[in-house]
Amino acid sequence: MVEVRDFDILTPGFHANPFPTLDRMRAEGPIVRMKLPIIGRTYLAVTHDTCAALLKDHENFARDPANAGSRTQARILRVLPRTIGLLALNMLGHDDPEHRRLRGLVDQAFMRRTIEAMRPMISDIADRLLDRLKGRTEVDLMAEFCRDLPLSVICAMLGLPDQDHDRFKNWLGRLTDTANMGAVIRAMPGVISVVRYLRRVSRPAGGALPGGLIAELRDAERDGQSLSEDELVSMIFLLFGAGQETTTHLISGGLFALLSHEDQLSQIHRDPGLIPTCVEECLRYVSPVQMTKPRFVTRDLVWQGRQFRRGEMFAGFLAAANCDPARFEHPHDFDITRHPNPHLSFGTGVHFCLGFQLARAEAAIAFERILARYPNMRLVGQERKIEWRKRLGIRALARLPVRLVA
Ligand code: HEM
Repeated sequence: MVEVRDFDILTPGFHANPFPTLDRMRAEGPIVRMKLPIIGRTYLAVTHDTCAALLKDHENFARDPANAGSRTQARILRVLPRTIGLLALNMLGHDDPEHRRLRGLVDQAFMRRTIEAMRPMISDIADRLLDRLKGRTEVDLMAEFCRDLPLSVICAMLGLPDQDHDRFKNWLGRLTDTANMGAVIRAMPGVISVVRYLRRVSRPAGGALPGGLIAELRDAERDGQSLSEDELVSMIFLLFGAGQETTTHLISGGLFALLSHEDQLSQIHRDPGLIPTCVEECLRYVSPVQMTKPRFVTRDLVWQGRQFRRGEMFAGFLAAANCDPARFEHPHDFDITRHPNPHLSFGTGVHFCLGFQLARAEAAIAFERILARYPNMRLVGQERKIEWRKRLGIRALARLPVRLVA
């Protein structure tokens, strides 16, 4: 039996400077056992090698606990309101072949060429958001830019009307502390409102715009493909959720990293051609998604030299893998020229992030537009006054107060 260890991986203090804790975790070995809030006892893969091996081993580790002999999730789903329970029907909760079938329906929409063609639209949205800041000196970029860009882009992609954006923000705004059961329960009514709204708009003549992904998926269903209404709503909720928060915290965390590293900031101003490697370094250094969803051991086995039992739970601790000195030179340094940069921020294996091209494009455009428009932008006040949220698995700034002009 591996000892259950107690590391702080969710307080604002950890998120402000996670490296010392991540290094201590890795010093314990490639796998650390912890009791996580809400999730329970979990093995965390904390080195780059074990994390990648875990996420690529679909024989021994399943996403769906039923494939590891556990009926707990199925039982929980039976007692949850249907509106919430259907959210588990998405591709990220399934193993192949179900996973492949669901992912196959949206793969095309996220391919490189499709995303490249979306760049002018993303740039227009970024410019429109920045136009709203004209004449202002100090702003909270989190509230006024970093949240709105991914939200507007995913809504445009799905075909959700602009005028509904503020409603989503209100509904989902309370979901800020996912490590606290009380906070999760308090956020439920908002989640239920979003699911109801998505169900309504995804019906024919329900309000989703023609040409958007919702209309396309609904028509795919009509053409005889096996996407039920619940699966459609679950898929849209996944895209809607996965596409927003993650990218928001990449953009805000990345801008914060740049603004707090003067040398890197001057370098990118001198050579905006560095933006693509800068985005990769922000993905690694910020690690906005710190941890994967759980994986379940499918059979009793010896893995990495240790015995594990069917049904036990694992997760890839991406933030720890991303600063593993076995893989990265000077991993605590923020270096926008780092290349190669084999970070695991988008995961790996069959669940590798579907939206990685989109996230990269949004972050690159966000950095390019804001740095060009506000070359003298600076953080307001002391760096240490910046507040991080208490979150498990997501590294999230509460605010990003900046002075736009010198
Ligand atoms: C910085 C931004 C993003 C990060 C860091 C990120 C990270 C991740 C990670 C780590 C996974 C794998 C989770 C696991 O294996 O348990 C994942 C999966 C996924 N991501 Fe992202 N993501 C980002 C943006 C997006 C965007 C913009 C979209 C789409 C709009 C998206 C859609 C998805 C979907 C659908 C999956 C599930 C894929 C599957 O199960 O096959 N993500 N993402």
